[in-house]
Amino acid sequence: MVEIVGTGSSAPEKVLTNFDLEKMVDTSDEWIRTRTGIRERRVADKDTATSDMAAQAARRALEDAGMGAEELEMIIVGTVTPDMNFPSTACLVQDKIGAKRAAVLDIGAGCSGFIYGLSLARGLIDIGEYSTVLVIGAETLTKILDWEDRNTCVLFGDGAGAAILHTGDKGRGILATYLGGDGSLGALLALPAGGSRLPASHQTVEERLHYIKMAGNEVFKSAVRAMGKSAVTVLEKAGLSNQDVDLLIPHQANLRIIQATAKRIDLPMEKVYVNLDRYGNTSAASIPIALDEARRNGLIKKGDISLLVAFGAGFTWGSVVIKW
Ligand code: ACO
Repeated sequence: MVEIVGTGSSAPEKVLTNFDLEKMVDTSDEWIRTRTGIRERRVADKDTATSDMAAQAARRALEDAGMGAEELEMIIVGTVTPDMNFPSTACLVQDKIGAKRAAVLDIGAGCSGFIYGLSLARGLIDIGEYSTVLVIGAETLTKILDWEDRNTCVLFGDGAGAAILHTGDKGRGILATYLGGDGSLGALLALPAGGSRLPASHQTVEERLHYIKMAGNEVFKSAVRAMGKSAVTVLEKAGLSNQDVDLLIPHQANLRIIQATAKRIDLPMEKVYVNLDRYGNTSAASIPIALDEARRNGLIKKGDISLLVAFGAGFTWGSVVIKW
């Protein structure tokens, strides 16, 4: 089995509240809270990039695991906000933490990046390729937000979370994973320019095409469907029922999506970890930040079953069941 032996997270100090946003766009604290559940989010300063927070989260995960960076054999980073197109953010993290032996890979699976990373790392450890893999979800979404677009700028925030996976004992660790996607719906949540389709130009900048574009309502409906299906499917794969789940750690995009996911598997909200009121949607970072907080707050005990469920741009979705 493959176990999680350490977690860590990091978020910028600067807090931007809904009341701050009221002064920037035509919105209100009441609208944001009732439609999303978000109260505030963290915002990286101009000198902080994704790899900085990712490296900080990684150092904390290593400390938690009681490991040195040289023990890492692979680093996987899920992100839609890499420091730059290349080198990958995983390469930058490797250098920052001194993980000289580690292979390095970024995953572009939107908000599901961390779950995709866990699944991939588990597979590589299972086949005996590696024994220790660092999986990170890290984002500086506030740098790709259009601060004049109230439809998107109120939703997202910055942060990073990390987990170290290691060959473990029988009967404990990742019990099952499930991944899915639907590329036909990609345009509903995208950053159109800056790639080979629309390279950066004066025109792309003028047309504000380097910012997140989202059809919120369509994304909402797909997220509810896919997260519900992901939760059900992975529990089936693990041979478990909703009764076995001690804690659901869902992607933190919208409280109403989280409630719908819990309802789909008939789980009371007391068993659901929610921190989006404090962070907003941090995309690939949301689940690992929540996982780290839940562990550090003593909400996960030995023998507990945790269910992680994600949905994101692509569209992508996925889920993981862990026995601690
Ligand atoms: N403040 C005030 N009014 C607003 C704001 C705002 N910040 N944003 C939109 N509105 C207005 C709209 O303009 C619209 O006005 P209109 O009716 O006059 O046109 C009205 O509010 C209602 O808009 P809806 O889109 O119908 O509101 P909805 O209830 O769907 O909530 C929201 C919008 C919060 C974006 C919701 O659709 C949602 O959460 N979608 C999913 C978003 C998401 O989770 N994305 C990320 C998932 S994947 C990933 O994490 C990368």
